[in-house]
Amino acid sequence: MTRQILVTSALPYANGSIHLGHLVEYIQTDIWVRFQKMRGHDCRYMCADDTHGTAIMLRAEKEGITPETLIQRVWDEHTADFAGFHIGFDHYYSTHSEENRQLASKIYLALKDAGLIEVKTIAQMFDPVKNLFLPDRFIKGECPKCGAADQYGDNCEVCGATYSPTELKNPVSAVSGATPVHKDSEHYFFKLGEAEAFLREWTTSGTLQSEAANKMQEWFASGLSNWDISRDAPYFGFEIPGAPGKYFYVWLDAPVGYMASFAKYAKDTGLDFDAWWGKDAKTELVHFIGKDILYFHALFWPAMLKYSGHRLPTAVYAHGFLTVNGQKMSKSRGTFITARSYLDAGLNPEWLRYYFAAKLNGSMEDIDLSLDDFVARVNSDLVGKFINIASRTAGFIHKNFDGKLAEGVANLELIGEFQAAAEAIACHYEARDYGRALREIMALADRANQYVADEKPWELAKKPKAVYRLHEVCTVALNCFRLLTLYLKPVLPKLAAEVEAFLAIDPLSWADAQTLFIRQRINAYSHLMTRIDPKAIDTMIDANKQNLEPAPAPAPTRHAEAQAHAAQPVVAAAPVGETISIDDFAKIDLRIARIANAEHVEGADKLLRLTLDLGELGTRQVFAGIKSAYAPEALVGRLTVMVANLAPRKMKFGMSEGMVLAASGDAPGLFILSPDAGAQPGMKVK
Ligand code: 2FM
Ligand code: ZN
Repeated sequence: MTRQILVTSALPYANGSIHLGHLVEYIQTDIWVRFQKMRGHDCRYMCADDTHGTAIMLRAEKEGITPETLIQRVWDEHTADFAGFHIGFDHYYSTHSEENRQLASKIYLALKDAGLIEVKTIAQMFDPVKNLFLPDRFIKGECPKCGAADQYGDNCEVCGATYSPTELKNPVSAVSGATPVHKDSEHYFFKLGEAEAFLREWTTSGTLQSEAANKMQEWFASGLSNWDISRDAPYFGFEIPGAPGKYFYVWLDAPVGYMASFAKYAKDTGLDFDAWWGKDAKTELVHFIGKDILYFHALFWPAMLKYSGHRLPTAVYAHGFLTVNGQKMSKSRGTFITARSYLDAGLNPEWLRYYFAAKLNGSMEDIDLSLDDFVARVNSDLVGKFINIASRTAGFIHKNFDGKLAEGVANLELIGEFQAAAEAIACHYEARDYGRALREIMALADRANQYVADEKPWELAKKPKAVYRLHEVCTVALNCFRLLTLYLKPVLPKLAAEVEAFLAIDPLSWADAQTLFIRQRINAYSHLMTRIDPKAIDTMIDANKQNLEPAPAPAPTRHAEAQAHAAQPVVAAAPVGETISIDDFAKIDLRIARIANAEHVEGADKLLRLTLDLGELGTRQVFAGIKSAYAPEALVGRLTVMVANLAPRKMKFGMSEGMVLAASGDAPGLFILSPDAGAQPGMKVK
């Protein structure tokens, strides 16, 4: 039976570049879609840029362009990057489209009619200089838990605490540097709590992976709070119908972007929208997402669909995050790798597709890109095993048989074994266990190589009497090669197309696994894939290395808004004990400093202004959040330890040119560090 399947990947924000972390998802989805198409199903892959929100508005302003110009430029970049990795969307749209405005408004009005929208006045952090309500990521201050300076309004990167921006100590607006004030405003809320019974049922009906369904239970246990779906002007987005000056929060219209992308595509291709999105649609709707946005896709989105009279998702598949060499991607290590830098370094996109596929197993576990393993695995599997079969046998067909395969093969055992594997491999693709599919495919490749090694066509070629045998051996090997190509095609679409051209065959579909490849004429073999040169990896890493200085205005991370609005954080913050290399440590210039002066700061609750004497290195002004623990006069003359090469930060009260080290923990108290007697100002601490 032909299935009709609408597939989506999460819509990337239009305020940043596509990086390898994103690509885990697009590659995972693309492989699934290509597999379904090869199986003969009617599968459509929809995506779009996620274009709304404060971050995009401010970035455009900073660049002196309109948000529309910015999102068009990013759309061009994103679509070029995706094409570079052979991501075959059937339609890639933008959430800033008329279709999306209409659908988001329609859904909102239906929810309103169903009595699921309420209006409440709430107080929020407001930048009095910019006249702007500040999203959490645009407020910085001291962590309410550990006191670390310069933390975002939603979570602390030092101790991992999550909190609301109103809890931050000494908050400042990252946009203007002003102290934010609390300001009341009316907000529109979606009453998610009223959907609880439905959501409890839906989330346990087999639509989610078991790990995700368990996560849901935790969320239900802690209660579903109503969801704030409005933002005040100025905001780049869609104005809410009947609510002048109020805009849909970006996360309200983002998932509607899936629908809008399809609506435009349906209009252009003559499909019936309601047959795919109507309440009684018989088609499948499958969302691929990262595990950090599960809350939006497993709670808000199904509730929005249900109460606005639409069909529900058939499945939501969440994947884990990408680590590089076992660690969180890091700009300073050069492992925050953009898609473009990978391509520009001359690396073949199909190497990465293969490596990610080998690591994916359909679970929410994180996957690691170990760069050494990447080189070794791709060179060994793709070049050493797969391509090798053709490169060792195709030449004989040309030289000895005028490019024509044998009329038949007497021994069908090996080919039969390859054919028999088709359904098991298909099951693994279907279950998104690509790692298992590739292990089985590579085990077959080993079998084929063993066959060639045993039969030694290069020796048969020397014996005139063995000519039939030579023809048969090479024909069997090329049958194996063709079947391996077929099985690898969802992962390696470009290479598969090149093999199809070389073998002079029509595009392979799954059903072709059961046919024999004989009698036909093939084209001359030319090399299909090269080995990875590790130097290209070094070039890519260098291109991604950036200095440690913080960006002047924060670019929210891909999932910043998601994290801030999920009732429970899904993503653990970087583990406090994350290891760093000795090289990383060596970048921190720790110095002994003498506190030459310490004084209160007018208007600051927590800060003292310190003048630090670093001997020959001169003096530094540092604002330290230690007022609760020290009277200024008690500090003057003391020695302490400071980070001397921290990029200077502009604070409300002036420049802070470093940081003094102090200890704190769960017990009360804050303790600045002091060296033993004898240490001199300016000495390096190592
Ligand atoms: O987390 C993100 O990058 C969001 N832009 C994903 C949106 S997915 C969908 F809901 F639109
Ligand atoms: Zn903290």
